[in-house]
Amino acid sequence: MKDKIIETFSNELRILIDNIIIKEKKIFVTLKAENIDQAKELEPLKIECEQKISNFNFFEDINISFTTIKKKFSKVIVVSSCKGGVGKSTLSVNIALSLQKLGKKVGLLDGDIYGPSIPKLLNINTKPDVNDKKKIIPINHKGIEVISIGFLIDEKKPLVWRGPMLQSAIMQLINDVAWNSLDYLVIDFPPGTGDTQLTIMQKIKIDYALIVTTPQEIALADTRKGINMFNTFNIPIAGIVENMSYFVCDNCGTKHFLFGENGGEKLSKEFNIKLLGKIPFHSTISKNCDSGTPELIYNNSDLNKIYLNISKSLIKQ
Ligand SMILES: Nc1ncnc2c1ncn2[C@@H]1O[C@H](COP(=O)(O)OP(=O)(O)O)[C@@H](O)[C@H]1O
Ligand SMILES: [Mg+2]
Repeated sequence: MKDKIIETFSNELRILIDNIIIKEKKIFVTLKAENIDQAKELEPLKIECEQKISNFNFFEDINISFTTIKKKFSKVIVVSSCKGGVGKSTLSVNIALSLQKLGKKVGLLDGDIYGPSIPKLLNINTKPDVNDKKKIIPINHKGIEVISIGFLIDEKKPLVWRGPMLQSAIMQLINDVAWNSLDYLVIDFPPGTGDTQLTIMQKIKIDYALIVTTPQEIALADTRKGINMFNTFNIPIAGIVENMSYFVCDNCGTKHFLFGENGGEKLSKEFNIKLLGKIPFHSTISKNCDSGTPELIYNNSDLNKIYLNISKSLIKQ
C-alpha cells in the first residue's frame, strides 16, 4: 500500500518523505523541512500529498505534518508507559538529572498535556519569557532546560482539550520553544495510545522510547499496548525500567515485593527488550518529588547508582 501511494507522488514530494505509517484506516505522513519557514513554503506539496492519498478513498483519517525538530537535539528519548501512576514523570525527571550528572546537556519536555506534573516535581513557579523571535524560552532549572504546558496554562482550571487545540498545544511545545542545542531531550509522554500520543510520535523524530512499568500484572497489560504502539511506529525501544519493584524494610532489611516479582523480566523476555534497571519503592523518592527537590534523591547511594546505571545504558545505545 505504501509503495503504491508513493508511486503517485511527484518527485518533489517524494524526496520530502521522512516516514509513512499506516494503522488500520489512519495514515501518518511525516515530511522533512529545514525549519518552520521552509515548511510554510512547502505547503503546496503537503496539499498534493493529502490529495493523492484521499484519491485512494481508503483512509478515514489522513495526518500529514512536517518534522523540523531533529537537528536541535542529538537524541530524543520519550519515557512512556500506557498506564498512569507508574512513575513516568518521576523517572523522566531522574533520567534528566542523571544524564546531566554524566556530563550531558539535557532538556525536559512535559508532554503530558492532560496532567502536567513536571512544574510541581521541580518546584518551578515562574512563567517562561518570550524572545524577540516570539519563541518561548525554556526555564533553566539548575542547568536543565524545562518546558511544560503547565507553565502556559492556569493550573487551577481543568483542561478540556478539543482536537485542534490539542494539536496546536503540542506544536507549540515542539516548534515554538527556543531550545539550545542539547545532547538529550527527555519527554514525559502522556499515558495511553490515543491521538495525542500519535501526534507527538508523528511530529517529533523520536530516537528511543524508555518503557516504565510496575511489576503488577495490570500495569504490564497496559505497558504491552504501549510497546506495541512504538513498534507500529518503528520507534526503537531503549529498554524497560521496573519501578516500585520492591520495598526494603528499614528494621530487618528484608525485600518485600509489594506488586509481585519479576514483571519487568517477563516483559523483557516477551518482547526481547533489555531490562535496564529496577527502582525500589522508596520514601526518599516520593518525599523529594513532592517537595520539588528530586536532586536530593542522589544523596542515597543505592538510588544514585540505579539511576546512573540506567542513564549509562541509554548513553551506550
Ligand atoms: N520508586 C518510587 N518510590 C516511591 N514513590 C514513587 C516511586 N516512583 C514514583 N513514586 C510516586 O508515585 C506517584 C506517581 O508517580 P508519577 O511519576 O507521577 O507517575 P506517572 O507520571 O506515571 O503518572 C508520585 O506520587 C511519585 O512521587
Ligand atoms: Mg506523570
